[in-house]
Amino acid sequence: MKAFRLHAYGDIASVVTEDVPVPDTGPHEVLIRVAAASVNPLDLKLITGHAAAYFPLTFTHTLGTDLAGTVEQAGPLAAGWRPGDRVIARPAPTRGGAFAEFAAVPASHVASAPTSLPLETAAGLPTAAATAWQALFETARLERGQTVLIHAAAGGVGSFAVQLARIAGAHVIATASAANADLVRELGASRVIDYRSQDFAGDLDDVDIVLDTIGGETQQRSFSVLRPGGMLVSIVAPPDELLAAAHKVNGAFVFHQTDATRLRSISGLCDAGSLRVVTDQVFDFTDMQAALQRVASQRSRGKVLLAIG
Ligand SMILES: NC(=O)c1ccc[n+]([C@@H]2O[C@H](COP(=O)([O-])OP(=O)(O)OC[C@H]3O[C@@H](n4cnc5c(N)ncnc54)[C@H](OP(=O)(O)O)[C@@H]3O)[C@@H](O)[C@H]2O)c1
Repeated sequence: MKAFRLHAYGDIASVVTEDVPVPDTGPHEVLIRVAAASVNPLDLKLITGHAAAYFPLTFTHTLGTDLAGTVEQAGPLAAGWRPGDRVIARPAPTRGGAFAEFAAVPASHVASAPTSLPLETAAGLPTAAATAWQALFETARLERGQTVLIHAAAGGVGSFAVQLARIAGAHVIATASAANADLVRELGASRVIDYRSQDFAGDLDDVDIVLDTIGGETQQRSFSVLRPGGMLVSIVAPPDELLAAAHKVNGAFVFHQTDATRLRSISGLCDAGSLRVVTDQVFDFTDMQAALQRVASQRSRGKVLLAIG
């Protein structure tokens, strides 16, 4: 089978296509014929080694953490899966394997794909939607009626976070460039701030929760918009504890952990017509490097997808 592999930390040009054997399927695993994958900023951090402290790779490494496809074979202890089942899956980053024609994934990291979405689109769900879910509902415990500020609302995580917060009955304020304001409003934001021309920190106060998808100066300026007791939850960098204390707010860092229960809930929301995948671009499998470049641009609207099978 064809797979996109990395022999050592490097850059996008270091990712090469190779013919390799179809992976063995362990007793608790499901072998998936991959229809599509999605590319995340994490893939770039894995390639360069910037994520090596958390996710050290063993080379040669097959890349890719988000996929959708059909079950080819299920291990004897991978209960409930049959050949032909349509699934989404999120292999652990150290394991990877999604950028290939077949992937063996622990059954605990697999969920049924939404019946209402083509697999090509469903591949955009696992990391981005589940990270937004984990940050908003499990870490920040977002409640109906609360106000949440979502940064980079047009991005992969942000586009899901806006929809999930709206579904939860929150009042959503979002940052995005002017060109993406209509999209973000359509997803559920009641107010969109163009971060390039407006100072969100000067404009807002009494926010209950900030979802930080940017880090750095954006994170630092976000503390002041929170009400006392509010929460800044970051998916990029642990919030500065001194700044949090000075503003009498809480800070938390979310490190996404794959969980099939969460993926099932997300799939269900798609089938209920409440959640959609915003597609930036679908690249052919052979255009892997162009797909990685698109994510590296930090300008993608929603998800960058790869059509594989
Ligand atoms: N901790 C975890 O477990 C976890 C999980 C998933 C992702 N992450 C991290 O979270 C970050 C976001 O991931 P992602 O997949 O959402 O990225 P992404 O899809 O590549 O984000 C692209 C978007 O960022 C927006 N953007 C760029 N700079 C901005 C700024 N200063 N203010 C507001 N929007 C800005 C762009 O919108 P405009 O064109 O409108 O500017 C674009 O739509 C990445 O660093 C990723 O590694 C962490």
